[in-house]
Amino acid sequence: MCGITGYIGSRPALEVALDTLKRLEYRGYDSAGVAFWGGEKLQVMKRAGKIQQLSDLLNGVEAHGLAVSHTRWATHGIPNDPNAHPHTDEQGCVAVVHNGIIENYLELKQELLARGHQFRSETDTEVLAHLIEEQLAQGYAPEEAVRRALQPVRGSYAIAVLFTDYPDRVVVARNDSPLVIGLGDGENFVASDIPALLPYTRRVILLENGDVGVVTRDAVRLTRLDGASVERPPVEITWSAEAAEKGGHEHFMIKEILEQPEAVRDTLRGRLKPNGGIQFPELKLEVEDWQKFRRILIVACGTAYHAGLVGKHALERWLRRPVEVYYSSEFRYGDPILQPNTLAVFISQSGETADTLAALRLCREAGYTTLGIVNVVGSSIARECDHVIYTQAGPEISVASTKAYSTQVAVLYLLGLYLSAINGTLPMQTYSEGVKGLMQMPSLIARSLETEPQVRQIAEQLHQTPLAFYLGRGVDAYVAMEGALKIKEIAYVPTQEPPAGEMKHGPLALVEPGVIAVFIATQERTREKLLGNLKEIKARQGTVFLVTTEDDHLLPQEADYTVFVPKPPLEELSPLVSIPVLQLFAYHVARLRGCEIDQPRNLAKSVTVE
Ligand code: G6P
Repeated sequence: MCGITGYIGSRPALEVALDTLKRLEYRGYDSAGVAFWGGEKLQVMKRAGKIQQLSDLLNGVEAHGLAVSHTRWATHGIPNDPNAHPHTDEQGCVAVVHNGIIENYLELKQELLARGHQFRSETDTEVLAHLIEEQLAQGYAPEEAVRRALQPVRGSYAIAVLFTDYPDRVVVARNDSPLVIGLGDGENFVASDIPALLPYTRRVILLENGDVGVVTRDAVRLTRLDGASVERPPVEITWSAEAAEKGGHEHFMIKEILEQPEAVRDTLRGRLKPNGGIQFPELKLEVEDWQKFRRILIVACGTAYHAGLVGKHALERWLRRPVEVYYSSEFRYGDPILQPNTLAVFISQSGETADTLAALRLCREAGYTTLGIVNVVGSSIARECDHVIYTQAGPEISVASTKAYSTQVAVLYLLGLYLSAINGTLPMQTYSEGVKGLMQMPSLIARSLETEPQVRQIAEQLHQTPLAFYLGRGVDAYVAMEGALKIKEIAYVPTQEPPAGEMKHGPLALVEPGVIAVFIATQERTREKLLGNLKEIKARQGTVFLVTTEDDHLLPQEADYTVFVPKPPLEELSPLVSIPVLQLFAYHVARLRGCEIDQPRNLAKSVTVE
């Protein structure tokens, strides 16, 4: 989730680069850089920090006619100057900006190292610069060199490439990461997202996966990766710049909810192998190291804590080892019983949450092996953990966390299946179903998101409720907690979210006409008991909104509203398909109540005080 832009024409290219980049800052903001034509050869200037830092660096520098630029959201390598884009080969023949993840970059890097290349960064992107340079050295023209260089590359990319010997063109390519070409008069533009270009042009060509383009001042020529020509007619963009930044949506939250299939796909990328194996190439733990953990501790706050609870459910079932989940803020007061051979896992989107960081430091003092599941590369928690798995959700702007949750849960599933495989705790068939379920997950989540029109209609009926219960049993009770947090934080609806079986011990007294109960019922073995809970609500004239899987023929008969979600091959995986409905419901209720959705009152995205 980085932002890339490119320009060829007669304007001051660095001004265009900085201006277009600033419009993409929401895609990433930990470092920025630009490559431009310096008169005789390419020049690259880049800096860790916000775009303003790059702007200061470029003060007084001039370039005409040609530039590619980048604002980074780190995925491989911490945010520092060497890891900032553009990346070049040793001689500086090519400069590459890239958005996406090269899945097999380690393998490609090994091969390039063996052929004598030298690397200056820890990024996956740098392999592209060396691969393209090798093809140029063999005499291929720039576009052919790019096509050939991309043949062995697996993963997602939107790239823009400059060539020192061909200052009349930008070569671009796309696979699984967006890329557009903006058409001007005697000038053309490139960007990973439309909003970057709106002040300059509204006529854009949207590239498809497998497209390679050569962009000059006066022309755009497109081919497929195999060299065949292809035509993509331009489209006219009518959105406002602000709407475009949110991908045409009213709020970042809905944009991020809808990004979940892609975010989960990126998280699984390179970790879930096509043959069903699971690997964490970034971790330096051997199988024997993993096998020695007898107990797992999960520590997190807010939404990340709820992801931890879902992880506990899956890990305990698959691994048959105890998993304890702590609120970070409570960890030290729980006076935890320190035991050897414990893996302590810290989940955090921002990687900066003070309570989680404090708990992490306690665990380090106690000598635990610590593992971070973190979204922001190079953040404090990522740096202080012994090991870290990055969630690859991309920047999450909305305070209410959505795609970060899904990717955290996806990592916990990967971890659970991996550990159960090396410990031999799951029957082969169950393991295979788990892997199959994860592989299908992006499309299952996409199907679940297709319920949005129906969820919106239900929200129209229920948004004035004074109180919402969120009820489930087993893992659904954990999903209920996250659903309740969403509606509480953005729509200010008071909620109650006890495990459904606890209703009769007190909360039931709060049910009266007008109160709603959102039931989550994805687990077959809990349905008969949930039926009783559902009837208890109905008998007191509460309204029931049921979220269940397509195989449920029991509960929908009693519910006032039902939304069906697909059933994954393993029931443990169902939180990833049920949570989108609850996120959408909270979102539409908040919208109908006129709330400030992306920045709810009293809350902050990153809580850096204990
Ligand atoms: C804040 C945010 C939540 C988030 C929690 C933990 O409360 O508003 O969305 O879940 O912090 O943040 P972390 O960055 O550690 O995941």
